[in-house]
Amino acid sequence: MSNFLENQNWRYATKKFDATKKISKADLDFLKEAIKLSASSYGLQLYKVIIVENTELRAKLQPAAWGQSQIVDASHLIVFANYTKVEDEHIDEYLENASQIRQIPLEALSGYGDFMKGSLKSKTSEELNIWAQKQTYLALGNLLNAAAELKIDATPMEGFVPAQFNEILGLDKLNLNAAVIATVGYRSEEDATQFYKKVRKSDENLFITL
Ligand SMILES: Cc1cc2nc3c(=O)[nH]c(=O)nc-3n(C[C@H](O)[C@H](O)[C@H](O)COP(=O)(O)O)c2cc1C
Repeated sequence: MSNFLENQNWRYATKKFDATKKISKADLDFLKEAIKLSASSYGLQLYKVIIVENTELRAKLQPAAWGQSQIVDASHLIVFANYTKVEDEHIDEYLENASQIRQIPLEALSGYGDFMKGSLKSKTSEELNIWAQKQTYLALGNLLNAAAELKIDATPMEGFVPAQFNEILGLDKLNLNAAVIATVGYRSEEDATQFYKKVRKSDENLFITL
């Protein structure tokens, strides 16, 4: 078995973190890089990733996350927030970045830019919002995989009230919306969940080969 699958079997959605253990800066940088390298539609990365270390802020967020203990006990809380309005400016920002990084004149990218802008125009603002939210889940997936590689524990979480998170973190003002969150850190020895067998569909039930 590859290390990848071993690590996937090792990881589990941690219910109780050891509040005394913190992730090192080097490991946090690795996780941030994994998030940054995630694939996204057209490469637009239509989100911001907020890393919440502040303990007071996390105490405020806990009731907005069904009181889940991971919010305050984990080493870090990571909020994936999508842009609620996707506009031409996002495309222009991408094009300028690509032009600079790849040393290509901006004009050479204008055709691709127009194509992307045209594709945005074919979606309603609600569709764009949902599309931007979907992208955050890929970044979340990369975070979970990267954490498992480092034997860092993580919990993906949808058990929170986005409107309350948006208000507490001031995301509304930035046209951002908390789409999904994750906590990362180290499991508590007392977390019984770590010993549970994984519940997954059988291959026959999950896969269709045509
Ligand atoms: C998008 C998403 C949201 C989730 N929300 C929560 C949550 O709010 N709280 C929690 O304890 N677990 C949450 N989970 C964890 C799942 O319950 C868990 O991944 C699933 O039962 C499979 O177990 P495993 O990850 O331990 O293998 C969430 C998982 C995903 C992917």
